[in-house]
Amino acid sequence: MSAPFRAPKGLAGVSVADSAIAKSEPDGTLVYRGYAIEELAEHAGFEETAYLVLNGRLPRREELRAFEEGLAAQMPLPEKVLEIMSGLPKGSHPLDVMMTATSALGSLEESRTHAEQMESVEAKMGPLAANCQRLPSGQAPVRPKRGVGFAAGLLQTLTGQEHTELEAWVFERVLMFYVEHDLNASSFTVRVVASTLADPFAAATAGIASLSGPLHGGANEAAMRMLLELKDPGAAAPFVAKEFAAGRKVTGFGHRVYKKFDPRARLCKGYLGELLRAKGDDGLLRLCDALETEMWKRKEIPPNLDFYAAPIFYTLGIPIPLYTPVFAASRVFGWMAHYAEQVADNRIIRPDATYTGPTGLKYVKIGER
Ligand code: ACO
Repeated sequence: MSAPFRAPKGLAGVSVADSAIAKSEPDGTLVYRGYAIEELAEHAGFEETAYLVLNGRLPRREELRAFEEGLAAQMPLPEKVLEIMSGLPKGSHPLDVMMTATSALGSLEESRTHAEQMESVEAKMGPLAANCQRLPSGQAPVRPKRGVGFAAGLLQTLTGQEHTELEAWVFERVLMFYVEHDLNASSFTVRVVASTLADPFAAATAGIASLSGPLHGGANEAAMRMLLELKDPGAAAPFVAKEFAAGRKVTGFGHRVYKKFDPRARLCKGYLGELLRAKGDDGLLRLCDALETEMWKRKEIPPNLDFYAAPIFYTLGIPIPLYTPVFAASRVFGWMAHYAEQVADNRIIRPDATYTGPTGLKYVKIGER
């Protein structure tokens, strides 16, 4: 047997699947099913975009209505799940709570078809995000108002506040940017799980686990904490110098694909400016800008979506530990698109490894080691 092909570390630059869902490119372009992200941001809404990602084309009016109604009908969380979430220790990370709840849904809805399970997990991840900090803290569950749309309903339940039209519009755009991003780490994880023919809840639970790390979805929370610590634009240059000297990555910067700019971050920077100008204080934007300038000067590393999603969420009043759960509530639609694409043309994903351990060792009895 010939030696297996040796893929580069982190599978960088390796195509591991054919996919018609989305494509990001180093020059800063991103398309969902052929539509540029800028085009969708200007004309579409969240549900339309989620439908497009899942089904490969924009919905007709009646299809969109049926999709929205289907999501609304599936949103309520079963009592048992609320109980499980409430039973977790106060102070649990909300994303861990969300992961536990998603896994529990898998056992509660085991008898449903995979198509039903996919719709259920897509619909329930928003309510899980809104409740994953409240319930372990002993607060009562919140439910989205009916008939307000996925994004507006989620924003209201996350913050308990009413928002301006601009704020709701911006939040919806951020959700649309989080919904899908070709073979990012969590979507690849979902495809690996799907390739074993495990169910959609198992795949989504694994997706959340993969998203949780600070190199992936966890970066939006970490970016906000960094911004709050720095406070002042003048702190950017010494901070970046210190991080580089220590060999640490600066949260919210860099991307496997985008080398010039992340189109989602660029759009979000504009939205952040609009939000802050409406509030009459653009200090946070000036701090972001100072960090961006320093990172470019030092190594031409552009900010990614998480860097600008974080201050937007902060300005909208979303609690910081809920930033990554919000990412998951949106990305689950992309995960399910990957789940469906994988099982439609499946072969179990089972790569090889180059063995670097010892061989030929002889067993030594426990008392003689
Ligand atoms: N800070 C400092 N240096 C960086 C950063 C950063 N944030 N990102 C990349 N670099 C450096 C690398 O060290 C590497 O330097 P070298 O060539 O001298 O070794 C060079 O830039 C190229 O790095 P890549 O190979 O492009 O990085 P990789 O693809 O392996 O990792 C990742 C991408 C994980 C996003 C990385 O940039 C990082 O850790 N960023 C910070 C965490 C973060 O913001 N994650 C969110 C990702 S976006 C999302 O999930 C929506």
